[in-house]
Amino acid sequence: MPTSGSDLLPVYHGKVRDVIDAGDHLIMITSDRISAFDRPLGTISGKGEILNQLALYWFEETSDLVENHILESLGPRSTAVNKAEMVPVEVVVRGYLTGSSWREYAAGRQVPGLTVPSGMRAHQKLAAPQITPTTKAPVGEHDEPIDRDGILTRGLCSSELWANIEKTALKVFARGQELLADRGLILVDTKYEFGLVEGRLVLCDEIHTPDCSRFWFADDYEAAFAEGREPKKLDKEYLRNWLSAQGFSGHGEVPPIPAEVFEETRKRYVEAFERITARKFTFSGLDFEAETRQILSTLNG
Ligand SMILES: Nc1ncnc2c1ncn2[C@@H]1O[C@H](COP(=O)(O)OP(=O)(O)O)[C@@H](O)[C@H]1O
Ligand SMILES: [Mg+2]
Repeated sequence: MPTSGSDLLPVYHGKVRDVIDAGDHLIMITSDRISAFDRPLGTISGKGEILNQLALYWFEETSDLVENHILESLGPRSTAVNKAEMVPVEVVVRGYLTGSSWREYAAGRQVPGLTVPSGMRAHQKLAAPQITPTTKAPVGEHDEPIDRDGILTRGLCSSELWANIEKTALKVFARGQELLADRGLILVDTKYEFGLVEGRLVLCDEIHTPDCSRFWFADDYEAAFAEGREPKKLDKEYLRNWLSAQGFSGHGEVPPIPAEVFEETRKRYVEAFERITARKFTFSGLDFEAETRQILSTLNG
């Protein structure tokens, strides 16, 4: 994991966030970095603020269901969080048979965690949301699908804890779907990360943001499903799709991305924030480097 200690405190540089170890807690500073297919692609001005504010919004909206890691907001893109012992599993919840799960199903392969009847169609709603976990691979490697038995035999988590995680993830997902239905959106699928704090189950990382979720516009679903195309989306799939159209799927050299494509992606993030929260997004103007300096100077006093 890429870390540096040159700022006096150890800093973990994730794909999107920098995480400062402040001793008894962590500080997560969300950058404007964007990645797709697990590859870094550049930056989108203001994206970090949008993601951080959106995650805060959702943690608040689900705080009656499960404890979360938020301690306090420190700046537009910085949040102090509880230091958790992370469960090394990405808890993917799916409400629909689409994306990679559809591709696997259509190819006749079993998706670990997924139980579906034969004869399903692309983008079809599952009878009930299901969990298709993956491992949490080290930087530079791809996460691999795993089922409950794999999680238990590899000792990634106890069976009691896993049962609690599944139950909790489904409750949080249901809350997300409910709230978004009022906004004309469908929460299609998402990914949660859980951790333990003094033995308690805590929802960590980020939730229901465009970086970890897929959203569809509800008013396009019926028509799209009938036509066999994917409903209109509100998320970073825009950039993924653009890259796919250039023949890029994560391997080899990243094609040069034009400024208009970045700008369109930025608009999608703003639209996602405003649509989901029903609040206007106003960029503070503080960039990632400036905010990081501010945080470090208060810490290093
Ligand atoms: N409360 C927490 N305690 C410890 N680690 C956390 C917590 N919340 C999130 N993390 C971890 O911090 C990192 C967040 O940065 P991110 O940019 O998402 O990194 P990554 O490239 O690993 O996805 C992730 O590795 C995530 O698992
Ligand atoms: Mg991450």
